[in-house]
Amino acid sequence: MRRNRALLLAMGLCLVGDPGHADEALRARARALFGPLEPPAASNVAEVALGRRLFFDTAISADGRTGCVSCHLPGQWGADGRARSPDARGRLTSRNSQTIFNAVGQPALRWVGDRDTAARQAEGSLTGSLGFASTADALPLLRQRGYEPGFRAAFPGMAEPLSTATYGRALEAFQATLVTPGRFDDWLRGDDAALGPLEQQGLQTFIDTGCAGCHRGPRLGGEAFAKFGVVKDYWTETGSTDRDTGREAVTRNPADRHVFRVQMLRNVARTAPYFHDGSVADLREAVRVMAAVQLGRTLTAAETGAITAFLESLTGSVPAGFSTPADPG
Ligand code: HEC
Ligand code: HEC
Repeated sequence: MRRNRALLLAMGLCLVGDPGHADEALRARARALFGPLEPPAASNVAEVALGRRLFFDTAISADGRTGCVSCHLPGQWGADGRARSPDARGRLTSRNSQTIFNAVGQPALRWVGDRDTAARQAEGSLTGSLGFASTADALPLLRQRGYEPGFRAAFPGMAEPLSTATYGRALEAFQATLVTPGRFDDWLRGDDAALGPLEQQGLQTFIDTGCAGCHRGPRLGGEAFAKFGVVKDYWTETGSTDRDTGREAVTRNPADRHVFRVQMLRNVARTAPYFHDGSVADLREAVRVMAAVQLGRTLTAAETGAITAFLESLTGSVPAGFSTPADPG
């Protein structure tokens, strides 16, 4: 451990001495740890169009005014700026609404990984956030709102194209298009100017401090679970009033107490507030909390600033298709 740290320090020094070399060494490490986001796979156009229409339709809900878009907003980068969001039963969600950008394809969805696909997640929303007593209760409403031709076009050849399963599949197909590469990907692919010196320094600090031990892969997270509060209880630093048992509620295994999915960090500068309970409003503060509770580290103001600058470089653009469709055809 100590030898590793000495080695990293030596590498760090040699990086400072030789900027050209530094770029390449850092890029090679970053490519191995993260890798660029790949563009969305080719998709069935009719399915995506249907999913888009469903996503922005607030009438398909028990209260007639709640849709996916109510808690995954374009202005909030597919997340919600509120710590918790009101659902169609007029209750607040138990956790913070996550961004749906880049979400499809993670091995497990939601804060505690209790959904395996976005299709099943969407189907679950019908009796969850959208407030129906049973998923089938949505079907008459979908027919009434003229969705049958859209389902037939998206799922040709099916005996019954309009079902809650195809509702989920269409929403997954639409969300799979919401991939947001940014400057970090350009830099990984060799564009030196895509990241400024402070952002590169922040990337280096992100790796050397140990953040990348958990936040890895092209999304910088989303691939593993970890305890929130490895070194000390998370609420001592976030000031959270609730103590969420995390994944233990799903697995019933005490070893999963306070375990959450390592949240992906793409667009993180635009998706405040932070953590599963939205307890932290500011990104610098979230970085400080993470270093303290996950790694037992007190970062200097310069280190926090550099990591935050790096995280800001993970901002892509809101996909053009992430808006209410003009022609509900
Ligand atoms: C009332 C607010 C609300 C509504 C409506 C809503 N969501 Fe969510 N969504 C959330 C919250 C809160 C979470 C996190 C839940 C958790 O982990 O416990 C979430 C999580 C997700 C995730 C997981 C993202 C990830 O990275 O794992 C996806 C995907 C998603 N929602 C899609 C949808 C779709 C599609 C709809 C419409 C069918 C929808 N949501 C409706 C609040 C909402
Ligand atoms: C041991 C694994 C681990 C390490 C190390 C770690 N994280 Fe995290 N990170 C997580 C988990 C788990 C979450 C989700 C916590 C929760 O449930 O709210 C998270 C959440 C975050 C969030 C909030 C994301 C959001 O959208 O709410 C940020 C920002 C973050 N981490 C940055 C960092 C930084 C910067 C470092 C290094 C100083 C770091 N993390 C180190 C596991 C880790």
